[in-house]
Amino acid sequence: MKLLVLPGDGVGPEVTAEALRILRWFAEHRGLTLEVTERGFGLVNWERHGTLMPDETWARIEEAEAILFGAVGSLDQQAVIPPEERRKGSLLRMRKGLDLYANIRPIRLPEALLEASPLKPRVARGADFVILRELTAGMYFGTPRGVETLPDGTRRGVNTHSYTEGEIARAIRFACRLARERRGHVTSVDKANVMEAGALWREVAGRVAREEFPDVTLENMLADNCAIQIARDPRRFDVIVTDNLFGDLLSDAGGAILGSLGMLPSASVNDRGQALYEPVHGSAPDIAGEGIANPLGAILSAALLLRWSAKQPEDAAMLERAVDRALDAGARTADIAAPGEPAVSTSGMGDAVLRELSLLQGEA
Ligand code: NAI
Ligand code: MG
Repeated sequence: MKLLVLPGDGVGPEVTAEALRILRWFAEHRGLTLEVTERGFGLVNWERHGTLMPDETWARIEEAEAILFGAVGSLDQQAVIPPEERRKGSLLRMRKGLDLYANIRPIRLPEALLEASPLKPRVARGADFVILRELTAGMYFGTPRGVETLPDGTRRGVNTHSYTEGEIARAIRFACRLARERRGHVTSVDKANVMEAGALWREVAGRVAREEFPDVTLENMLADNCAIQIARDPRRFDVIVTDNLFGDLLSDAGGAILGSLGMLPSASVNDRGQALYEPVHGSAPDIAGEGIANPLGAILSAALLLRWSAKQPEDAAMLERAVDRALDAGARTADIAAPGEPAVSTSGMGDAVLRELSLLQGEA
């Protein structure tokens, strides 16, 4: 597998290094074939090349089968880099350019982290669902967009929420296929009550599910209600499918169940067999460089890579199991440690997962 590693800014390099150590373990012990290329992304490129996206890096991105991405973003960047240049090197360009329309965000609360969850144990225990967020259309891409000055001198900001039937249908199909591998239940989330595009979303979702996935049950839910249900009764969900904007918000709300952004993985895939794997969190400038970031979001993203790109579901499950066992054994980075509980470093958490992998390999 051709793997492109883009560590990015802030804690990105710290957490990707741990995910890469894990993948190298699978190469060494489980027959994963890996051809790793690494390139800068973000501020390092600006400092080194005077551009956020050298052509050669973009060419690598376009040809990669799998991309392991850290995080991007820093205050310096926002201050000094012109907007045009920022767009060239943006994550949005990568998502749109590769047509990575299906953003998979699993949210699963390990039993060991029940105490770290802000929800009551009786509500949170066993929460295990996936949010499928449409990633290449909707509010973040629709046109017209911009800020215009009106005749009276005041300004008006415009963004457009736009979805074609085709864009909706492929997201729904992806969600239904995911549900087939899980508990067979899809919740399609929209605002059909107040948005025409939402009514179309609901209509297409219903048709696709009925005609192509009679074995999957589809439920429709309004987005505002979904936000409440995630906090009230997260166990009722199996697969949630929704648009780009609602998916952004609801997946962060779902992530709150785990108590830390550092735990959450994601995969973004297209229909040409390419995928981008990244932890959900950003560059965390407040803790960057201290070696204390939680690498589990990145490591669990590597598990998604094993499942989706390497097509090794057993290896993926083995890695997820190793993460659970490392947590069971008490490994905690600062963000998930209880008050007074000792915390391990970023690489210490990587060590703990590698230790469990070796043990699991020995038991097999
Ligand atoms: P953030 O996710 O970087 O940080 C939010 C909070 O969570 C901070 O307190 C941080 O310390 C903590 N945190 C994040 N990851 C952690 C980890 N692995 N372990 C322990 N704690 C962790 O979001 P924020 O602060 O809103 O944004 C910082 C920068 O990141 C901005 O420039 C933003 O644009 C960028 N960003 C990039 C994303 C990406 O690359 N996909 C996603 C979100 C934000
Ligand atoms: Mg977000």
